Amino acid sequence: MFRAPVLRPALLSVLLGVVLGSAQAPPAAPPRESLALPAPSAGTVPLDATLQARRTTRDLAGPALSLAEAAQLLWSAQGENRPGRRTVPSAHARYPLGLYLVTEGSPTLGPGTYCYLPNTHTLRTVGTRGVSALFGSIRAMQPWIVKAPSVFVVTGTPLNLSSRGSAAKMDYTFWEAGAASQALLLQAAALALGSGVASGVDLAAIGTALGLPPEEKVLVLLPVGRMKPGQ
Ligand SMILES: Cc1cc2nc3c(=O)[nH]c(=O)nc-3n(C[C@H](O)[C@H](O)[C@H](O)COP(=O)(O)O)c2cc1C
Repeated sequence: MFRAPVLRPALLSVLLGVVLGSAQAPPAAPPRESLALPAPSAGTVPLDATLQARRTTRDLAGPALSLAEAAQLLWSAQGENRPGRRTVPSAHARYPLGLYLVTEGSPTLGPGTYCYLPNTHTLRTVGTRGVSALFGSIRAMQPWIVKAPSVFVVTGTPLNLSSRGSAAKMDYTFWEAGAASQALLLQAAALALGSGVASGVDLAAIGTALGLPPEEKVLVLLPVGRMKPGQ
């Protein structure tokens, strides 16, 4: 039986434009480059020393994270420590979290917004906006976040577990966000970096700024930078 070919709307509009003599270029797609990250390195700081050192530091200085520092922190929070499995436990190994890095002022990583891809240990560029541009809408709420040179954004897409209700789905997702956050904060302490936690801001506005789909929610921000003398 003959079936009429199905044309995607974007293709259809270009073809119509050609036919009508008014072909327009489709809207510019956001940059999608993939950036390889250095492999995680074995540290020398004992776990109990990082637990001792971890605290919220809100006065964070630059320069922003180097590529190697960013790689180590991303891997700690969501990286694979064996094929298909990550540093942080996950209900049913479904991995509902997303991890983004927004940064500007790094010597080795360009300003912009990046998404971490655990299975390839790479960063995908999702935008060119750095901290001050992306977090502008929350400046009045908590200015210290917007002054940080690098901010990690933990997102969650609530687990689709058939045996559980929607409350449990979100609970499990928040649980993992907490575990991933603590892993990143301890790694920051091991690298002698300052870090903090913030969810008392308009997280939905940040999701919109990141261009997230409606089902993917911003759960927490983790600003990271250099500690100032005496901190
Ligand atoms: C879920 C959560 C949300 C938080 N949100 C904020 C926040 O919006 N702004 C902020 O300055 N600190 C925030 N904090 C940090 C706490 O204020 C901080 O952890 C607490 O004062 C204890 O201090 P410490 O982290 O130095 O041990 C948050 C902490 C958690 C666990």
